[in-house]
Amino acid sequence: MPKTDPIVARAVDLYKTYGDTDSQVTALDHVSVDFRRGELTAIMGPSGSGKSTLMHCMAGLDVPTSGEVLVEDLEVSSMNQKQLTQLRRKEIGFIFQSFNLVPTLTAEENILLPLQIAHRPIDRDWFDKVVSVVGLENRLDHRPSQLSGGQQQRVACARAMMERPSVIFADEPTGNLDSRSSREVLGFLRQCVRDYGQSIVMVTHDPRAASFAGRVLVLSDGSITQDMDHPTYDDILAVFAEHDDPDNGPVDVEPVTTKED
Ligand SMILES: Nc1ncnc2c1ncn2[C@@H]1O[C@H](COP(=O)(O)OP(=O)(O)OP(=O)(O)O)[C@@H](O)[C@H]1O
Ligand SMILES: [Mg+2]
Repeated sequence: MPKTDPIVARAVDLYKTYGDTDSQVTALDHVSVDFRRGELTAIMGPSGSGKSTLMHCMAGLDVPTSGEVLVEDLEVSSMNQKQLTQLRRKEIGFIFQSFNLVPTLTAEENILLPLQIAHRPIDRDWFDKVVSVVGLENRLDHRPSQLSGGQQQRVACARAMMERPSVIFADEPTGNLDSRSSREVLGFLRQCVRDYGQSIVMVTHDPRAASFAGRVLVLSDGSITQDMDHPTYDDILAVFAEHDDPDNGPVDVEPVTTKED
């Protein structure tokens, strides 16, 4: 049955500290945010502002100190390990900056691995569709070491899409890629949102990548300081220019290397 709640995932008063009292770091400082279904949301912010911590807490890969995480109205933050494993297999996809592929397996085997581990049936039509969207038809027999960075990340994207999860969290999916490969991976993520209604939350330092998103959130010091609806590339640059305090170093956005899109 198609899911209809317009909110796919939600953080409620999320608070996360690391370390003990002497050296405590507040990574998330009471963050509340709703992620909308069928939308590409980008998360930006300086290094150390809590972006990865937010993604990891949302995906059940890390546990908040207090507050709640809900995915499809299921409370992730209170689940035991077995429930979490189930939820992560079915409802949540994750794409890492470093691809996280199994080096000894081919592209096809990597894409199908989560389904095989979960003993779930493989929908061959969907597999073919996903593989053609990521443009990997001729690379399925290759192992990660035989693929470019962009191709490896497209394998990771296809793997995340295979289960048609409710939401995909992506932590700097283009962070290790050159501008051409970045565009390919971003194009794929956008296509998943546009053509298949996939909900995606993506951390990025690249304002051009963020300008592909329907919504851009900015985190600073563990708090959401901006929430922009369909910002243009210039809107995003303007936000970072405002925060560009000469005493605090340069803006934390990557230089733009292309003039396309
Ligand atoms: N396992 C950990 N132990 C201690 N401190 C941590 C840990 N993970 C993150 N932190 C701290 O929490 C804060 C937020 O880190 P986080 O990784 O979420 O930032 P980020 O916004 O993803 O940064 P970047 O853009 O560099 O990836 C930082 O001050 C970081 O040092
Ligand atoms: Mg990070």
